[in-house]
Amino acid sequence: MRIRTAVFPVAGLGTRFLPATKTVPKEMLPVVDRPLIQYAVDEAIEAGCDTLVFVTNRYKHAVADYFDKAYELEQKLEKSGKSELLGLIRDVLPAHVRAVFVTQAEALGLGHAVLCARPVVGDAPFAVLLPDDLIWSRGRGALGQMVDLAGRSGASVVAVQDVPPEQTSSYGIVAAEAFAEGAGRIRAIVEKPRPEQAPSTLAVVGRYVLSARIFDHLASIRAGSGGEVQLTDAIAALLASEPVLAYRFAGRRFDCGSRIGLVEATIRYALDHEDLADEARAYMRAALSE
Ligand code: UTP
Repeated sequence: MRIRTAVFPVAGLGTRFLPATKTVPKEMLPVVDRPLIQYAVDEAIEAGCDTLVFVTNRYKHAVADYFDKAYELEQKLEKSGKSELLGLIRDVLPAHVRAVFVTQAEALGLGHAVLCARPVVGDAPFAVLLPDDLIWSRGRGALGQMVDLAGRSGASVVAVQDVPPEQTSSYGIVAAEAFAEGAGRIRAIVEKPRPEQAPSTLAVVGRYVLSARIFDHLASIRAGSGGEVQLTDAIAALLASEPVLAYRFAGRRFDCGSRIGLVEATIRYALDHEDLADEARAYMRAALSE
């Protein structure tokens, strides 16, 4: 099984980052020097994807502009011999990768956003990445690990991590069979259960490898939690006919849909940057003692 298509649902309203997200889409918020969307795109390309489907809304021109060619800027940098900077903006999307933009006319939920990508994805299994879940890892990226597992097992794969019991109502939560080598077959999945109703504390985070059968379920389910069409509900329906694995990926996830997550990610990635780490560390020490 080769996963060639990655879907990026980026049509949400990003209300937790208002007022910034009044004009800047959440996915364009930077961690150090790159927007969140770039980290997710790089992860998908590393996993072997070469068709990237961005599900956007009519206010998110910035996402399409970012992946477009910047003629004037490229010419200027070329003329002034700034080849390193030129490389940086050209590497936003390698030549073998194509970007497709699809509009979600109304923010009817994550499940609905994924369904909007159906005409591009077709019948093959595909990946979904939520760019506001930024996953830092030293080795193979989280999606690459999941694609490998999907290839070995032939099953759909959903990324999970353990969360504190009081946070279950912010996530899709799974009940899974015993884990072996990081993965366990999902028996049940529920969207945002209250702690006393949660089947476990294993939370779904924003990486999925899905069989195209998910589209049939997305097309037929009704709006669920929060009045939105939930991807979780379609996965619950998929479980009845196909195996879906929960996978505890190697890596650290930052919830960059929340302010503290973005702050933590900025610190983590700054400490990883060769030319920033020393200054960042020194500043953090100083700030803590102020
Ligand atoms: P969130 O639940 O984080 O919602 O969506 P949001 O609107 O982006 O942000 P807040 O909560 O208002 O701050 C999870 C993912 O699903 C996408 C979002 O863009 C994000 O990547 N999404 C959500 C859509 O593409 N369309 C929707 O209708 C809803």
